[in-house]
Parts: sequence; structure tokens; C-alpha cells
Amino acid sequence: MSGLQKIAVTGKGGVGKTTLTALLARIYAQQGRSVIAIDADPAGGLANALGLPREVVEQLKPISEMEELIYERTGAKPGSYGGFFNLTPRVDDIPDQYSVVYDDIRLLKLGTIDVGGSGCMCPESALLKALVTHLLLYRDEVMIMDMEAGVEHLGRATTQAVDAMLIVVEPGRRSLEVAGRIRELASDLKLQRLYAVGNKVRSAADRDFIAAHSPVPIVGYLSASVEVIDADLRGAPVYEVAPQVVEEAQVVLAAIEAKVQESAS
Ligand SMILES: Nc1ncnc2c1ncn2[C@@H]1O[C@H](COP(=O)(O)OP(=O)(O)OP(=O)(O)O)[C@@H](O)[C@H]1O
Ligand SMILES: [Mg+2]
Repeated sequence: MSGLQKIAVTGKGGVGKTTLTALLARIYAQQGRSVIAIDADPAGGLANALGLPREVVEQLKPISEMEELIYERTGAKPGSYGGFFNLTPRVDDIPDQYSVVYDDIRLLKLGTIDVGGSGCMCPESALLKALVTHLLLYRDEVMIMDMEAGVEHLGRATTQAVDAMLIVVEPGRRSLEVAGRIRELASDLKLQRLYAVGNKVRSAADRDFIAAHSPVPIVGYLSASVEVIDADLRGAPVYEVAPQVVEEAQVVLAAIEAKVQESAS
């Protein structure tokens, strides 16, 4: 059993998507698997959560802002709408060429495109979409994608390749409402295997609250932890500073793998 391959992490702003992505990436890397972590969140803190040195973080430019690359591959200037451009740009060299590897985890920063809702037909979105498709379908490492509260990088053609989509929720109505909206978007795309991970849990009452309101099955919980906050303050990798949460994340991951296997059989 080789385990999961492609995991997408989504949820309301600030719930802990980036923290969970970093934890899962680390756990897989420690299991000796090759891992690519994808930062597709405009807030873009995954490099920090993985503990990359600040000089490296500062040099990391998201693909969505690489104007020359976008122009070279699509034949159109970023920001131009309409007109002609290549909808199937070459992307196969991008994951290796434009990523950094740190502590056995490859990190690729995608960035996002501000399209104000519905999908735009612009060169940068064509490139990102092609890239995500490539990552999902043609690369055989474990991929963990830190997304914002949407599914816009995913298309109908690729959703089958997503083994699990995790919606991070916290004890609070808003994150659970957002989870409901994500579930709807996901079902439009026929994305299956959607699971919630409860984060920042302080008590049994918090768990009960999440369990009572989650629109999707829950695969586990991570405690609210001062160590996680400390890691953030110190710019240290969360998995080095917060061992209890790492253990909890291991349990969560085992639960996800069990669910996915169950749904496949
Ligand atoms: N289990 C936890 N206990 C305590 N603090 C946490 C926990 N998980 C995350 N945090 C803190 O909450 C904040 C948001 O976490 P994180 O950046 O992972 O969320 P996010 O969903 O990626 O946010 P954004 O939407 O801004 O990208 C951070 O300061 C992080 O340190
Ligand atoms: Mg984030």
C-alpha cells in the first residue's frame, strides 16, 4: 500500500490550512516519500510554515507573477483578456525548475489570480490550470496543495486525481459555513472524498460543536496549541516546535488513509 498521492487542503481564512499542509508534508517526507507542497494560497505562508530561511522565502516568486514565463508559454501578456493565447501551454519542466527543495520537501509557489469569482480566461489562469493538471496527473510524488477557500485551481478533468480534499474547520460557525460552501463547489466538480479536519480545538465541547455542524465527515482534530503560535512567532517549522500537534496530525493522516481505502474498496 503506497498511501495517498494527492491531497488538497482548503477552508476559511486563518483556520490552519497552511499549518496542516506543512505538517502533512513533513510526515510524508519523514516516511521517506517524495513530496511536493504547493502553495496556492494568496496569503502564501507555506514556505514559512515549512521553516525555509527568510532569504529563500523572499526570493520565491509565485508562478502567477512570472510574467515572462507566462508570456513565453502562452504567447500572451499576463493581464490581457480575450485575444489569442495557447490554452495548453507547456508546463512539464516548471515543477522542477521553479521550485525549491528544503528538508526533503519540494515547494512550488503557484499564487492565485484575482478573477473576482468565476473563472477568467486569461493567460495566467491557463498556465496555472495546465500546471495543476500536470501535477495531479503526471507526477508521481505525494502532492499536498494549500488552497484558499475555493476549488478554482481544479477542473472537472482533474478532480478524479484528487485522493482527498480536506476542509480545515475550527470551533466557530463561520468556518463551518465556509465548509458548506466548499462542499457545494466540490460537488459541482464531482470531487469526492471530502473530509473535515477540526483545528484549534480546546475542549471536548469544541469537538462536539464541530461534529454537530460539519457538513462533511470528520477525519480528526488538532488541538489549539501555544506551540503552534510560537512556531509562527519564531518563524520556526511547526513540526519542530509542536510535537503534540505533529502526533495528532499523524493520527489524522492515518484516518484519512483509512477512509480513502474504504471508499475505494
Ligand atoms: N492548532 C493550532 N493552535 C494554535 N494556533 C494555530 C493552530 N493552527 C493554526 N494556528 C495559528 O493560526 C494562524 C493561522 O494559521 P494558518 O496560517 O495555518 O491558517 P491558514 O488557513 O493557512 O490562513 P490563511 O487563510 O491566512 O492562509 C497562524 O497564526 C497559526 O499559527
Ligand atoms: Mg495559509
